[in-house]
Amino acid sequence: MKNTYILAIESSCDDTSASVLCNDKVLSNEVANQEVHKQYGGVVPELASRAHLQNIVPVVAQALKKAGITKEELSAIAFTRGPGLMGSLLVGTSFAKSLAMGLNIPLIEVNHMQAHILAHFIEESQPKPEFPFLAMTISGGHTQIVKVNSFFDMEVLGETLDDAVGEAFDKTAKILGLPYPGGPLIDKYAQEGNPKAFTFSKPNIPGLNFSFSGLKTGILYFVQKNTEENPNFITEHLADICASVQHTIVEILMSKLKKAVKETGIKQVAIGGGVSANSGIRNALTALGQQYSWQTFVPKFQYCTDNAAMIGIVGYHKFLEGNFVAQEVTAQARLSFN
Ligand code: KG4
Ligand code: ZN
Repeated sequence: MKNTYILAIESSCDDTSASVLCNDKVLSNEVANQEVHKQYGGVVPELASRAHLQNIVPVVAQALKKAGITKEELSAIAFTRGPGLMGSLLVGTSFAKSLAMGLNIPLIEVNHMQAHILAHFIEESQPKPEFPFLAMTISGGHTQIVKVNSFFDMEVLGETLDDAVGEAFDKTAKILGLPYPGGPLIDKYAQEGNPKAFTFSKPNIPGLNFSFSGLKTGILYFVQKNTEENPNFITEHLADICASVQHTIVEILMSKLKKAVKETGIKQVAIGGGVSANSGIRNALTALGQQYSWQTFVPKFQYCTDNAAMIGIVGYHKFLEGNFVAQEVTAQARLSFN
């Protein structure tokens, strides 16, 4: 069969990314991170869209160059339609539409959260989940447990009622005076700390839903109180605070996963999204898998945080189905699965 070459574009938040896939294999996956947000302690939407505009042409050119193909060889263009920041999504969407029109090739819309899940199907000779499986998507914008029945049939079994787990990491980091995005830094310091040094109360949310806003407030009061007594409290106990917060978050996530497995009887469990780069979460999932005989799936680091390769793998499977969209398609900040 003839090879399919997909150019994929991701611009839903603060990473501009382009990737070229040959069938289900990644030939290139370029990501331009936007440093500009660091000084503001979070993503500033207007600055994000401006940076996407600056990045998109060179990032796409680099992805094609690394893949060693010309744009005339492309079979289709896939892009993130949503969910995400409207201004950011518009840049990738408009670019993808124009290029597809110029090249006269099909255009494929991709749901960002579906892509975090289907990233597991990028071919790198690794074991892949079989349908149906459970996927926990944990990112800066989302926290969901999803039952994945097939590539395009997904059911959300539970989700956060307030903050996403990535926000819990990033807001904790901000309270501790660490720069944005703080998740990776908490992970780093946690590795040198005692996870049982401090305890934080966990939310009591029914079913498979989550809540992280109470934890954030609890951490804020804890830090304020201790800093009043000892102004050097954070610096003296940074590793222990990070380890204890991470441990609490890991326990919240894992207890819901155990519940989801129990309720569905599905023992194949995958994680996806930026927060699945977290070492505590990766280790805990692997340990639970061994304890309860689950098959667990953890993506490579480069496919955890936002990247266009995951958009490309969804694009490839939609291409096989002939699932294309017309030029009338628009970006959608809120976009559900089905
Ligand atoms: O999926 P992603 O790149 O973007 C969104 O779609 O939101 O996720 C970004 C989130 C940020 O909140 C970041 O702090 C978090 O993922 N993150 C981590 C780690 N690496 C990235 N959180 C905890 N530990 C990490 N190692
Ligand atoms: Zn994401």
